[in-house]
Amino acid sequence: MSTQKPVRKAVFPVAGLGTRFLPATKAVPKEMLTVVDRPVIQYVVDEAREAGVEHFVFVTGRNKSVIEDHFDLQVELNDTLRKRGKTVEIRQLEELQPKPGQASFTRQQAPLGLGHAVWCARDIIGDEPFALLLPDMIMQSPKSCLSSMVELHSKTGGNVLGVEECKPEDTHKYGIIDRGDKVGNGFIINDMVEKPPQGSAPSNLYLNGRYILQPKIFDILEHQKSGAGGEIQLTDAMLRLAETEDFYGFHFKGRTFDCGSKEGFIAANVAFSLWRPDMADNVRHEIEKLLSEVKPFERRQSDRREQ
Ligand code: UTP
Repeated sequence: MSTQKPVRKAVFPVAGLGTRFLPATKAVPKEMLTVVDRPVIQYVVDEAREAGVEHFVFVTGRNKSVIEDHFDLQVELNDTLRKRGKTVEIRQLEELQPKPGQASFTRQQAPLGLGHAVWCARDIIGDEPFALLLPDMIMQSPKSCLSSMVELHSKTGGNVLGVEECKPEDTHKYGIIDRGDKVGNGFIINDMVEKPPQGSAPSNLYLNGRYILQPKIFDILEHQKSGAGGEIQLTDAMLRLAETEDFYGFHFKGRTFDCGSKEGFIAANVAFSLWRPDMADNVRHEIEKLLSEVKPFERRQSDRREQ
């Protein structure tokens, strides 16, 4: 029997600037851009809830208060929906809302990097393992990535990282791990390397934005100097943690969409609408029509004039 402390809390770092989505993200946080009819952040919060998480910790920044509003009770809206008999909508809103005391918001005053954002959650997490979900990455699979990682963690303890395969020529873009022996539904991680130079990666398994970490990471982050890009990097801190603690990997084989990139965001909208019984047929029809009609690089006259 394992005596691991369960994973009860999850951190969502949402303080980044989202520069790749400007001008859309000038006033709207990128985590609030919608995939079908739900903001991106809702997908990751639902994934955490499905994995048994009871407390949701958002590390926010300037211009992000709308995320707090999204997870709050909107009394006037609920009253109006009730008067109009919109019971389905009321239920949907109730389902997404954390129970009183289940959500905490803390500010990262400046976007100093993912490692720094995680460190900002230290007092709310306290002395227990926690999940970390990068809201950019949203996933489709019968069983969620974090649920499988929690299952592995309940056997192994330590730190558990979600990984996926990338094209071998893309390994220099990601944090890459070296895979060791199998354990439960995962494996031991022998080594990690952040953005290895081309041709030197130990595998093509990259960190996919899902982590279960031990609270000792906070002590390391407290003294962590800035690394690549002048930012306090989480991977640097994990490498230090790996000197004294075990790391395990879970190979996620579902679909993942990087909603921090435009192409990933558009693919997510298509994929999640095709998953919706109320929309799938119409969306498929529209896509097929577009694919047969629109030629590559077809541009509107007005776009040509702007160049
Ligand atoms: P990214 O680097 O992908 O997000 O960070 P970004 O900086 O917002 O995006 P671009 O590159 O400018 O378009 C991964 C995650 O870490 C969070 C981001 O909000 C994102 O969810 N993050 C990053 C922080 O919370 N604080 C930071 O200082 C940096």
